Amino acid sequence: MNRKIEFPAEFLWGSATSAYQIEGSPLADGAGPSIWQRFCHTPNLVRDGDTGDVACDHYRRYREDIALMRSLGMNAYRFSISWSRILPTGRGTVNRAGLDFYERLVDALLQNGIEPMATLYHWDLPAALDDRGGWLNPDIAHWFADYAATVFRKLDDRVKLWATLNEPWVVMDGGYLHGVLAPGHRNRFEAPIATHQLLRAHGAAVSAYRAEGKHRIGIVVNLEPKYPASDDAADRAATVRADAYMNRQYLDPVLLGRYPEELTEIFGDAWPAWPAEDFKSIHQPIDFVGVNYYTRNVTRFDATAWPLRAAPVRQKQAIYTETGWEVFAQGLTDVLVWIKERYGNPRIYVTENGAAFFDPPTATNDRVADPLRVDYMRQHVTAIHAAREARVDLHGYFAWSLLDNFEWSHGYSKRFGIVHVDFENQKRTPKDSARFYSQVIATRGRVLNEAPARLD
Ligand code: BGC
Repeated sequence: MNRKIEFPAEFLWGSATSAYQIEGSPLADGAGPSIWQRFCHTPNLVRDGDTGDVACDHYRRYREDIALMRSLGMNAYRFSISWSRILPTGRGTVNRAGLDFYERLVDALLQNGIEPMATLYHWDLPAALDDRGGWLNPDIAHWFADYAATVFRKLDDRVKLWATLNEPWVVMDGGYLHGVLAPGHRNRFEAPIATHQLLRAHGAAVSAYRAEGKHRIGIVVNLEPKYPASDDAADRAATVRADAYMNRQYLDPVLLGRYPEELTEIFGDAWPAWPAEDFKSIHQPIDFVGVNYYTRNVTRFDATAWPLRAAPVRQKQAIYTETGWEVFAQGLTDVLVWIKERYGNPRIYVTENGAAFFDPPTATNDRVADPLRVDYMRQHVTAIHAAREARVDLHGYFAWSLLDNFEWSHGYSKRFGIVHVDFENQKRTPKDSARFYSQVIATRGRVLNEAPARLD
């Protein structure tokens, strides 16, 4: 693992965002409301009453943002498409203006030499579909596939990388089990249904892609390697449950054609027997796995932790981010090698990686010094290089996120951007981490072979 760092010329270096978190103007030009529009406009669900009404105003400033990516040297960009801009009620009549926005975005990216990766679903379900049960209604597989096909027809001649779902685990866990994300349900019986319908929708969209598209489609999952807190049998069993719940719940069905058996133990009588034929569609070949990696967990048995009976243990010597996540870059290497070994070496992109640290609301003299984020990036890019050395088929890295943005229930209180946004006036200021990233890209990672240098 001591080889000098140097990434291949064709490696993708980008940043990632999602529609509701940056676009603003959620109801502009004929778009319909999403579940996040409703969630934010319901009192006391989002910190400080924040909403995505303006966000980073990217819907109107996308050209400026693309110029910024280009100036940093990025050659790729991962964004998501808002379903309710394309189909205001989730199905039926197409809103041309919505499709046109993404067409303009994609064209501007390509004109600037930036490869687009489009995610079809990053949590902003059309509200009209939620009224029909949302992710609990089995019809959602057709609704999603119809929406996906509309987008493929319009953009597949220019977009070569597609992701069906972003982090289905979070949709299920935050949206249907713990209720902290839209649509805000807290129900052990709904969560397994949401999981299964998310997977059916993924499968239906992949089938639609095989009919309409010519390039690559995959799924994006969030993974957190779980390490037992001790050798104790209860801690080890808790770790296996936590791993099944978060890391295998989606990848096993998609890549192996079955659910991890631990889910029955976790959900108990709420876990139904699913029809075997559903797995034909769920378990069909995909072209890549997108991995979102932020942290790991050291896990111990905890009888009170519902429903997993497993809880993370805080590490005394570690650095924690503003969202309370341990900085642990080795976990990224570990999880990438784990995918290679468990699932037969699929093509992989790291589709999100980043950290929230305190950054002041206003930049000083056009500078935001974010040494902790620079260090996080240094460690994690080194970690993906180690994974490549271990023969993981990894082709790109996307920093989360291009811009400080709407961090879901945290509102604007957590800043993940490598570019600072002053939400008073929408001024963008590349942080030191953006300048560092730009050196990583320009040197194809070789800068990581040098001792950390001051950036000014
Ligand atoms: C999500 C992003 C989110 C980020 C930081 C990921 O789970 O895909 O939307 O902003 O993590 O919490």
